[in-house]
Amino acid sequence: MDVIEAIRTRRSIRGFKPDPVPGETLREILDIATRAPSGMNTQPWEITVVTGKTLDNIRQGNLEMLRSAAAANPAVPVRPFEGKYRERQIGVAVQLFQSMGITEEDREKRAGWLQRGFRFFDAPAAFILSADKSVIASMAVFAIGSLSQTICLAALRYGLGTCIEDQGVRFPDVLRKCADIPESHQPVVSIAIGYPDWDFPANQVVSTREPLENVVTWRD
Ligand SMILES: Cc1cc2nc3c(=O)[nH]c(=O)nc-3n(C[C@H](O)[C@H](O)[C@H](O)COP(=O)(O)O)c2cc1C
Repeated sequence: MDVIEAIRTRRSIRGFKPDPVPGETLREILDIATRAPSGMNTQPWEITVVTGKTLDNIRQGNLEMLRSAAAANPAVPVRPFEGKYRERQIGVAVQLFQSMGITEEDREKRAGWLQRGFRFFDAPAAFILSADKSVIASMAVFAIGSLSQTICLAALRYGLGTCIEDQGVRFPDVLRKCADIPESHQPVVSIAIGYPDWDFPANQVVSTREPLENVVTWRD
């Protein structure tokens, strides 16, 4: 698969087959993806690969936090979006809910959908991407973004699907407890990874993009 095809093909996958991903495959993906650029080559990422019992414990811990309405404590604030950003957020949510047959009034199904994200969409593996707290303010989040997209693209080569998700790191204390992430590291984002279940309706969703005219300004 060539790089343009990979960029055009990638989409967020939110339904996975239960098949485990070989550890060697996950290692290869990370070996390739850590070629991602970072400011002054600081490589400000600390990657925790979670599978098996550890991932199950994190899922359970997240759901408990969600049920107890615990305050989220993410590294990057997830502010309510406004204006055109809110419209785009709603746009993809509508696409996802329609694909899953979830109506606006159906509180139970909506809650179920929310929980899926905190369960890493039942993926067999996930990456928790953290940064040392000493570098968090110095473009580390940008570098972790570049690493994230590179992981998602590299994963396609192995027939794997991914979903970058901040839901997975909303409760850092759960990650610290279950995956031994030290206090000195701040989880920034997570990536669910596994073999896509193409029968899962939300995996058919292709999100939209603004026409270039709306986001690019040319100055000659
Ligand atoms: C930083 C970041 C955080 C995200 N967090 C979530 C999340 O918590 N839950 C989710 O379902 N998708 C999440 N996504 C996926 C976005 O919703 C998705 O990338 C966007 O709708 C575009 O769709 P596409 O990835 O299929 O192209 C996140 C993506 C990024 C880049």
